Amino acid sequence: MNYRHAFHAGNAGDVLKHLVLAAVLERLKAKPAPITVLDSHAGAGLYELDEAGGEWQQGIGRLARHPAPTWPAVAGPYAAVLGDDWRLYPGSPLVALRCLREQDRLIACETEAEVADDLAAAIGRDPRAAVHRRDGWSALRAFLPVKAGRAVVLIDPPFEAAGEFDLLARHLVEAAKRASTAIVIGWYPVKGRAAADRLHQALRGAGVAKTLAVELLTQPDHDATRFAGSGLIVIRPPWQLDEALAADLPGLLALMGYAGTGSTRIEWLTGEMQAED
Ligand SMILES: C[S@@+](CC[C@H](N)C(=O)[O-])C[C@H]1O[C@@H](n2cnc3c(N)ncnc32)[C@H](O)[C@@H]1O
Repeated sequence: MNYRHAFHAGNAGDVLKHLVLAAVLERLKAKPAPITVLDSHAGAGLYELDEAGGEWQQGIGRLARHPAPTWPAVAGPYAAVLGDDWRLYPGSPLVALRCLREQDRLIACETEAEVADDLAAAIGRDPRAAVHRRDGWSALRAFLPVKAGRAVVLIDPPFEAAGEFDLLARHLVEAAKRASTAIVIGWYPVKGRAAADRLHQALRGAGVAKTLAVELLTQPDHDATRFAGSGLIVIRPPWQLDEALAADLPGLLALMGYAGTGSTRIEWLTGEMQAED
């Protein structure tokens, strides 16, 4: 599948995904234990946002009209990652690396040769990072559990092929079970409610505790022919991240000018009490 993320880079889905990734890593850094980020579908790493247009205009372009100090607190680590040069927009591996410390590691997987080369170039010589040109789904099995410290897993498939919602559900659960302390994050598009609700239902019944769903919708989600926004599944989110997102995402949506059409959702699909298996 010849997917190019460049057209989508910096859209509202990226804002949610990268904001949450940065917020998760910021909270983990409160402890000295090393962090390994496993990014199964990594993309090119850096994207020049084209003046002529692109989905970024409906995403980071709207947020960046407002000075970063006015963004809600949960977006602080994301703002720090972007700095002043958000037009050279960082994808998830670069968001991770900009958050990570010396003792931390990034494993980034990408199947497209050209994209993997671009990613390696965007990263440059960084001893914390390894780029693998390989299938990300099987990488979850190959690299988990990590040898030391805490893992943060990001599963961000292109959603071009049929069955990717099922693949995502299956691999989120498998990764969470293989790596019993990992934070496992999966991104999904919302186009009508049916597929997202089925994903939520699958995760409710999967026997994995502490599964949070977070959605940032810029449009109403009742029309199955139209993208409404996107969501993240976050298994084992850091303490009180749910509260921070619930408090701050509505303000972020309003800042982006979507208060009239959009909505946010923060919902625990499974809680503390559910057995792991
Ligand atoms: C949505 S984009 C990733 C965006 C990136 N995670 C970010 O947030 O900046 C999906 C990427 O996955 C790659 N891809 C598609 N199938 C893959 C697979 N089976 N394993 C690894 N990468 C894959 C595509 O080439 C594309 O670059």
